[in-house]
Amino acid sequence: MNAVSAPASTLRPAVPADVPALAALEERLFATDAWTADTLATDLAAPGRWWCVAEQDGVVVGYAAVAVAGDVADLLRIGVDPAVRRTGVASLFLDAALAAARERGANRLLLEVSEANRGAVAFYVARGFTQIDARPAYYRDRSAALVLRRGLGPACGGRTP
Ligand SMILES: CC(C)(COP(=O)(O)OP(=O)(O)OC[C@H]1O[C@@H](n2cnc3c(N)ncnc32)[C@H](O)[C@@H]1OP(=O)(O)O)[C@@H](O)C(=O)NCCC(=O)NCCS
Repeated sequence: MNAVSAPASTLRPAVPADVPALAALEERLFATDAWTADTLATDLAAPGRWWCVAEQDGVVVGYAAVAVAGDVADLLRIGVDPAVRRTGVASLFLDAALAAARERGANRLLLEVSEANRGAVAFYVARGFTQIDARPAYYRDRSAALVLRRGLGPACGGRTP
C-alpha cells in the first residue's frame, strides 16, 4: 500500500511496533470487547490480513483491519481517536480497505456492528452499507450485531457499487 495523505493524517501499513498503541486505542474504544495486545499481534501476523494505521504528527490516531478469504472480505476493526473524529479519518480507512479487498479478489465487504453503536451504524450507512442480517445478543452487553454488506463493484461511478 502506498502512503495516503489527508489534511494532517497519513495512512500506512501497521507494523508489530504499533501493537501497544493499537491496544491502548482498543481499550478506549471497545472497553469489554477490546482485543488484547496478544490478540492484536497474532492477528497482525495472520495470513490474508490487511492492517492499516493513521498517524498525525507521528501519533497513531486510528486503525483498520480487513481479513480476506476467497471472494469475501471482513472489516474486522475500524477505530478513530475521539479527538479527531468527524474529520474523515474513518472514510480514508474505508476507501483504502475497499481497494485492498478488491485487489485481493473479494467482491463484497461484510462487517458486524452493535445495534447500540449508533455513530458507527450511521457511518456505515452513510458509506453505502446495507443490513443483511442480525445476530441476537452477540456482544458482551447483550446487544445484537447487525451484519452489514457493501458490494465491491468496479471503483467508478459512485460510492455504492
Ligand atoms: C465509527 C467511527 C470509526 C467513525 O470515524 P470518523 O473518522 O469519525 O468518521 P468520518 O469522519 O469518516 O465520518 C464520515 C461520515 O460518517 C457519518 N458519521 C460518522 N460518525 C458519525 C456519528 N457519530 N454520528 C452520525 N454520523 C456519523 C457522517 O455522515 C460522516 O460525515 P460528516 O462528518 O461529513 O457528517 C468512529 O466514530 C469510531 O472510531 N467509533 C468507535 C469505534 C467503533 O465503533 N468502530 C466501529 C465498530 S464496528
